[in-house]
Amino acid sequence: MNPLTEPQIAVDVYRKRRERVLATLRANGGGVAIVPTAPETLRNRDADYPYRHDSYFYYLTGFTEPEALLVLDASAAPDAPASILFCRAKNVERETWEGFRFGPEGAREAFGFDAAFAFDEVDAQLPRLIANRPALHYALGASAALDGQVRGWLEAVRAQGRSGVSAPAAIHDLLPVLDDMRLFKDAHELAIMRRAGQISAEAHRRAMAACRPGVREYELEAELLYTFRRHGAQAPAYGSIVAAGPNACVLHYPAGNAIAQEDDLILIDAACELDGYASDITRTFPANGKFTPAQRELYDIVLAAQEAAIEATRPGATFDAPHQAALRVLSQGLLDTGILDRGLYAGVDEVIAERAYAPFYMHRTGHWLGMDVHDCGDYRERGAPPDETGALPWRTLKPSMTLTIEPGLYIRASDEVPERYWNIGIRIEDDAVVTETGCELLTRGVPVKPDEIEALMQAARVSAA
Ligand code: GLY
Ligand code: MN
Ligand code: MN
Repeated sequence: MNPLTEPQIAVDVYRKRRERVLATLRANGGGVAIVPTAPETLRNRDADYPYRHDSYFYYLTGFTEPEALLVLDASAAPDAPASILFCRAKNVERETWEGFRFGPEGAREAFGFDAAFAFDEVDAQLPRLIANRPALHYALGASAALDGQVRGWLEAVRAQGRSGVSAPAAIHDLLPVLDDMRLFKDAHELAIMRRAGQISAEAHRRAMAACRPGVREYELEAELLYTFRRHGAQAPAYGSIVAAGPNACVLHYPAGNAIAQEDDLILIDAACELDGYASDITRTFPANGKFTPAQRELYDIVLAAQEAAIEATRPGATFDAPHQAALRVLSQGLLDTGILDRGLYAGVDEVIAERAYAPFYMHRTGHWLGMDVHDCGDYRERGAPPDETGALPWRTLKPSMTLTIEPGLYIRASDEVPERYWNIGIRIEDDAVVTETGCELLTRGVPVKPDEIEALMQAARVSAA
């Protein structure tokens, strides 16, 4: 939670989500759901990795402290607590070193739980809370530690069997319930995601403006990180990719030491996480502010592929439709440029059928986006009849689903492709929310058209001169 952008805890938003989960569980026989937050992770000796809450836990609580666990009791009596938080106890000494803690009573009041306990009471309270309940619901098999804890709590209940207490007889995976809720973004989430997209777009503009031949990749990364934090984003949503020249053909290249050369393209795939939500932007631009003809040719193909994919991102289309739309444009471009030998393929359909594009375009055109950059949610229709190959049909896009649209082309040096295209790696990535009629792009605060990129870079040079 960021006090700059979320001055008040959206108590009702989180409470309503918990109530939806409780209603779903009640409709399915009741039981107790258990959702812990993420553990702290040691980096080395006394230093931890920066702490990041668990997305599912945060989705249901808005609570960002470590050492916390949510219990939702869908079998509670009407006047008994159904929504119960465990969190760190108040501790003046620890708070002097580590900062403010809500403590159970403070958290219960501020976040609207029915009851709260100190985290070190988890093992004492959980057997009591799950006793005589028909089922448990948690992220089954996702963490050996949690699986082990659940076993311990079950054993503690079973040990009381002779006093007439019964242990839950079934365990269900809770995640499909939560995944399907998280896949559809509510107004609260979309407002944060729009803001995250704006901050990330500004970071890309700043990096473009700062770019010159001679600059190092890490210097451009610094411009991005500065902008994220300057606007209150807590962290990058994923490791920033800043890749000069041939490095752009390495898909997960982390910003390194390479120096941008005069005729390099720079590929930046970087974006912030704001108040628990990711954005995800890629732009590709010339180090010296002017695309070479070969760079521009390929850039125009990738941009046309992205436009086709954006057009295909609308309600009623499948999740795969934008990818297929992009593939057609990219495959045609590979034939037109001679990167794929026109003599070997009857046309674009054959390029696609034989996956001949794959050496130059080896990833999909998008993924769900939300609290996690590669967000949760099924890509296929669960429970639908499979096709003749055994695959489930692709999910149908619906309003308020959010996803990225990110085609690219990556041409490594090889005797099999014309030399003018060697070492050109291009990706263009924007974030979209499906609307009633099409999609809304959240990240167009940074130019994408080549003329506009050149104009921005030119203007930055003039004002720096
Ligand atoms: N930045 C990760 C991705 O584009 O999927
Ligand atoms: Mn992406
Ligand atoms: Mn990306």
